Amino acid sequence: MMSYQAPKDLLKDKIILVTGAGDGIGKTAALHYAKHGATVILLGRTTKKLDLVYDEIEKNGYPQAAIVPLNLDGAVEHDYIELASIIENEFGRLDGLLHNAGILGNRTALANYEPSTFEQVMRVNVTSQFLLTQALLPMLLQSENSSIIFTSSGVGRKAKAYWGAYSISKFATEAMMQLLAAELENTSNIRVNAINPGATRTNMRAYAYPAEDPATIATPEQIMPTYLYLMGNDSLAVNGESIDAQP
Ligand SMILES: NC(=O)c1ccc[n+]([C@@H]2O[C@H](COP(=O)([O-])OP(=O)(O)OC[C@H]3O[C@@H](n4cnc5c(N)ncnc54)[C@H](OP(=O)(O)O)[C@@H]3O)[C@@H](O)[C@H]2O)c1
Repeated sequence: MMSYQAPKDLLKDKIILVTGAGDGIGKTAALHYAKHGATVILLGRTTKKLDLVYDEIEKNGYPQAAIVPLNLDGAVEHDYIELASIIENEFGRLDGLLHNAGILGNRTALANYEPSTFEQVMRVNVTSQFLLTQALLPMLLQSENSSIIFTSSGVGRKAKAYWGAYSISKFATEAMMQLLAAELENTSNIRVNAINPGATRTNMRAYAYPAEDPATIATPEQIMPTYLYLMGNDSLAVNGESIDAQP
């Protein structure tokens, strides 16, 4: 997948929402989607970071972005419905949704895992994706064809000791992707897939592996071919897949 070369106008006229768009992989995906012609809706919790991404998109002359500040930790059903109605009023449809925001939680044995952290990880990494998807489905159905991408992880397919709620949340993410893909197949224009980014040079990775030399792992830019492929029309026939962004 790393070898996919996206046409320059791959995402022309598409409206795409990216969660966690202020930093790490989400920031890079938002910039790449905009570069390939999309109007990107930047969702995140730190407005200052979203502003910087917005400015970079503007500076490069890409389609003007939109910012929707939302803390996925505190948000409730009503907030997602309100968000959907703001997007509906502004754009009328949605062509792509990248579920990217996530938190790591504790790296410790389940026997000692802090229950409040467990719940927080599940809220941010799982429940928010369910509520956001449910609220946005009517608008994704308005698109000629739309793509939902979830973000998985190696520990979302094979659990490893001490990865705690994060690992459980990524298994749940894979399940959510598979459920939606099966339920929407044949009856809608929506395809649903997941990406496992693999080791990628971000704050989350540095926090999980403090002793690792960041220069030895892939940058977010290097994994973008998969993010572009699954968001653009070259992947119209792909549904229900969990794809590795790195070999
Ligand atoms: N990096 C890797 O090696 C790797 C490997 C496998 C999977 N992943 C997955 O890839 C995705 C992106 O990870 P990353 O490495 O880019 O992490 P990151 O650098 O920590 O970025 C995470 C993003 O999510 C946002 N976020 C966190 N909590 C949020 C909340 N409560 N409400 C709204 N936004 C929130 C962050 O916002 P702030 O900047 O405001 O905190 C940030 O923009 C995650 O789902 C992660 O699990 C990463």
